Amino acid sequence: MEQKILEAVRLLKKSRFTTAFTGAGISVESGIPPFRGEGGLWNKYDPGVLDISNFHRDPAGSWRVIKEIFYDFFTEARPNRAHLVLARMEQEGMLGRTITQNIDNLHQEAGSQLVYDFHGNTKKLLCTHCRRMYKSSEISFDHVPPTCRECGGILKPDFVFFGEPIPQVPLAAAYEAAALSDVFLIIGTTGEVMPASQIPVMAKENGAAIIEVNPAPSNYTAGLTDIYLQGKATEIMGKVEDILFSATLNNDQDCID
Ligand code: APR
Repeated sequence: MEQKILEAVRLLKKSRFTTAFTGAGISVESGIPPFRGEGGLWNKYDPGVLDISNFHRDPAGSWRVIKEIFYDFFTEARPNRAHLVLARMEQEGMLGRTITQNIDNLHQEAGSQLVYDFHGNTKKLLCTHCRRMYKSSEISFDHVPPTCRECGGILKPDFVFFGEPIPQVPLAAAYEAAALSDVFLIIGTTGEVMPASQIPVMAKENGAAIIEVNPAPSNYTAGLTDIYLQGKATEIMGKVEDILFSATLNNDQDCID
């Protein structure tokens, strides 16, 4: 594994434009369960609660589950070392952008600036009637569904429900990243959900080298991934950080010579 991490660091050091593509797995060590696999949310809840037609038909019923999953759970979560390493890589000019499928805002809270929320974000809510936007911190979730102070309309979390389109800005940023990147760093995703799951495929078709961090193989591992770093996000990204920013390696030295 050490050799593979050195190979990955070599690619990252030489890269002109690296994109991080993250999924629920990067937040598991922050206390947020994944959607699939061991302890997955979809083992406990019906994904149908996040179907937009169900939300409009029964907002109170949807909101009861949404509150439990995304507002009771998420508010305690803090960025972990993997989020912080990506933020440091960005600050040091070694990460061009982060495309995340996650809606937990942990990349932003870790200090990453160039983050695109492909599935939106729980920290914002939108009035379904007058479109007024609220921060989640200014809303009480004691009574659901929460309503708009201006018009009384029902508020909806500003994340993408099943059956809704991906917002234009993150979609365009993801396609651009797939075209620009010479390294794609995939962390913690099964690669199950379209259209997000196609972004790494497009990057590979455009010549990007794929580095993948995941304790278990994903839909990418066998056929798309060039360097598979098997392990938990904090463990692997901690090792990557130690070598990538190691003072003993001078700038032009090829770190695996
Ligand atoms: N470190 C890294 N990866 C991990 C860790 C960890 N500590 N623990 C679990 N994983 C991996 C799992 O092996 C799995 O590959 O994280 C992945 C979680 O997969 P999913 O739960 O399917 O999450 P994700 O791929 O992000 O789901 C995509 O599905 O329900 C929708 O909108 C939702 O954005 C989500 C999308």
